[in-house]
Amino acid sequence: MTDISTAATPAPAIPEGVTVVTHPLVQHKLTIMREHDTSTASFRRLLREISLLLAYEVTRDLPLTTKRIETPLAPMEAPAIEGKKLALISILRAGNGLLDGILELIPAARVGFVGLYRDPETLRPVQYYFKVPSQLEDRICIVVDPMLATGNSSAAAVDLLKQAGARDIRFLCLLAAPEGIARMRAAHPDVAIVTAAIDSHLNDHGYIVPGLGDAGDRMFGTK
Ligand code: URA
Repeated sequence: MTDISTAATPAPAIPEGVTVVTHPLVQHKLTIMREHDTSTASFRRLLREISLLLAYEVTRDLPLTTKRIETPLAPMEAPAIEGKKLALISILRAGNGLLDGILELIPAARVGFVGLYRDPETLRPVQYYFKVPSQLEDRICIVVDPMLATGNSSAAAVDLLKQAGARDIRFLCLLAAPEGIARMRAAHPDVAIVTAAIDSHLNDHGYIVPGLGDAGDRMFGTK
């Protein structure tokens, strides 16, 4: 008999600090991305499209100010986002799939990259690349990684950003495992998480089930 795993049954409780974007367009596109025979080209296009919709949610509460402008008819005080440009921080390499779409929506955002690999002996994340915008303490940072699995690399990336001065950090992913959410909430309760779905669990290899497989491989056509 086929074991049918779904993300939706039973409906998982949504932990504090986590937003699940249940918009039908997001859910529909995610379903196509999950299918094993979806092509690399479609996967990449759908990820870019979903990233725009997720970006809408993760930026919902950005502080606004007003600025004086002139329309063709009259002057007005018009709303504008307050403060320094946002910092988008991509966790390499799969984070870049979310990054491209968000940059279309927020082209002036500054961009940083965090590269981490898992030490095969200790299984702990080790940093191999870290390049982030200046003045992180004055910016809202949005960390992007499609898969919040164990949460170890996400938590480590946020540690590094905090050491670099970041104070206002949000985490954006496509799929989250309960284990990854628990890890992130324990390590960084101040970091809000936005995701399109919370799946059932991690398997023994650290993959999200039912998930969508290896996001980086599916996005870049590698194996
Ligand atoms: N990273 C992935 O790409 N997929 C998973 O399921 C877990 C981590």
